Amino acid sequence: MSKEKEVKVSAEPGFVSIREIPGVNPAIADKLEAAGFVSAWMLVVAKPEEIAEKTGIPAVTVQKVIENARKLLGIRFKTAKEVKQERLNVKKITTGSKALDELLGGGIETKTITEFYGEFGTGKTQICHQLAVNVQLPLERGGLNASAVYLDTEGTFRWERIEAMARAAGLDPETTMNNIYYLRVYNSDHQMSIVDELFSFVPRNNAKLVIVDSVTSHFRAEYPGREHLAERQQKLNAHLHQLLRLAEAYNIAVVVTNQVMARPDVFYGDPTQAVGGHVLAHVPGVRVHLKKARGNKRIARVVDAPHLPEGEAVFAITEEGIRDVEE
Ligand code: GTP
Ligand code: MG
Repeated sequence: MSKEKEVKVSAEPGFVSIREIPGVNPAIADKLEAAGFVSAWMLVVAKPEEIAEKTGIPAVTVQKVIENARKLLGIRFKTAKEVKQERLNVKKITTGSKALDELLGGGIETKTITEFYGEFGTGKTQICHQLAVNVQLPLERGGLNASAVYLDTEGTFRWERIEAMARAAGLDPETTMNNIYYLRVYNSDHQMSIVDELFSFVPRNNAKLVIVDSVTSHFRAEYPGREHLAERQQKLNAHLHQLLRLAEAYNIAVVVTNQVMARPDVFYGDPTQAVGGHVLAHVPGVRVHLKKARGNKRIARVVDAPHLPEGEAVFAITEEGIRDVEE
């Protein structure tokens, strides 16, 4: 994430440097930055003890700085009317399939995490590619006129696929590829620390979508078996919470994928849930289960979402990307 290109800065909360916080003198700022805390948002979402520990700044000073950062960012009580207004600010990204969009209440929402989970080959990665393209579409075509961040933990990103999908969407392939910030993620620590960096990267690069494909693979590999289950879940939950804060802070969509096994007996506990099921159990968000159907058809079902209509959507993975099934 080092190559930061200054493009159009979004009108949303945006990047606020720690140096703008009242009471942060250059000495404090240097310590904060050295520890990776570059934006005001990063301070208000971090634990005070963690900031004190990483920077060596006294706890009382940290507390004061956080208070000032909150004020600066306008974090305070809101009226229900303001909450309503914020809800109206939620935006949607089209998946490329009307049926799938309808199932999701209009598309992939900002300010939340959407998890796609299912067996291998159910289309999780294809949906991620499609969304990285579609977020770039103009508003009237179901996009957000913005860029995407693509965190790839399994090495399954294909630029050729982006190129083909862009062309099919009538977008310039070169521009489209330039607006996808790709990062190969090598382990779970790397994965977690990147989210911290995204608190400054996202607003600076007008990113409105962050993809993590897959969110679980490193955690599963590094914390294998039942004996590491608690630790793994705890780390994953912390990671997902941090992603949710990112989504809320900048009004962006976060999409994560999670492969589940065809043979649930290899996992523990309830075979339809537990580790073989979705990972968003303790984090608010939208969970979408994907299932294979005949040929290139796939079936999506939204799980545990009282605000969305029940039912299923069938879509197709075509040469052009995610599409409705042709009758
Ligand atoms: P895992 O990551 O292994 O869990 O699977 P996944 O859910 O990410 O599956 P993925 O999105 O990779 O979907 C794979 C399916 O998409 C394949 O089975 C193909 O049918 C289809 N697919 C992948 N690439 C292409 C392509 O270039 N053209 C077309 N038409 N279909 C493709
Ligand atoms: Mg995949």
